[in-house]
Amino acid sequence: MATTNRSLPCEVPVFFATSEGQTRRIATRIASVLHDLGIESCAIDVAGREASDVDWTHVRGALVGASLHAGKHQKVAERFVKAHALELTSVPSAFFSVSLSAASKNAKEVVAADKIARAFPAACGWIPARIVTVAGRLAYREYGFFIRWVMKRIAKKEGGPTDTSRDHEMTNWKEVDALARDIARRIHTRAAVA
Ligand SMILES: Cc1cc2nc3c(=O)[nH]c(=O)nc-3n(C[C@H](O)[C@H](O)[C@H](O)COP(=O)(O)O)c2cc1C
Repeated sequence: MATTNRSLPCEVPVFFATSEGQTRRIATRIASVLHDLGIESCAIDVAGREASDVDWTHVRGALVGASLHAGKHQKVAERFVKAHALELTSVPSAFFSVSLSAASKNAKEVVAADKIARAFPAACGWIPARIVTVAGRLAYREYGFFIRWVMKRIAKKEGGPTDTSRDHEMTNWKEVDALARDIARRIHTRAAVA
């Protein structure tokens, strides 16, 4: 008989969904900053088995990250958040949406990315304390010919980098670190008043 082993103790899980790896890097960085602040944290892929092994009775805060592709976040992230909306809402939590639009020189694109980010938790029944957009990565070297061509056209339109001979990192790591510190502060504040 199959059993559910909810045995992964993690005070502040940083759940993520990724297609090309950047949201994993961001989640890992947040977990590392939290760890340095004395909080037990781990980055967990919502598409993996670990996500269902989390022992929610240990969770004091949580973050979820997903990236934008063709205007949508990963379905697997949506399913995960819908399934855990109550647990996520009951602790200090944050949603971070990773995209190219977040780095766009076109203000309308930035506003559009923010709107899509805000719609995601709402559609899943989750009320996070923070919703942020984070600029991602143009991974030209990882894309096939067609996607590389499409992404170069989009980047050109948005005033982004068009040199396809290398990848372009657009993530502002200081903002990522600040998000981690903010969640840590909210967790400590809650513990102090409890
Ligand atoms: C096929 C494809 C479609 C994309 N669509 C969008 C989009 O609609 N809006 C946007 O802002 N960024 C879009 N991006 C950029 C990604 O969101 C960005 O590269 C991000 O860093 C990907 O994160 P990940 O590596 O965690 O999947 C797209 C990238 C690819 C490869």
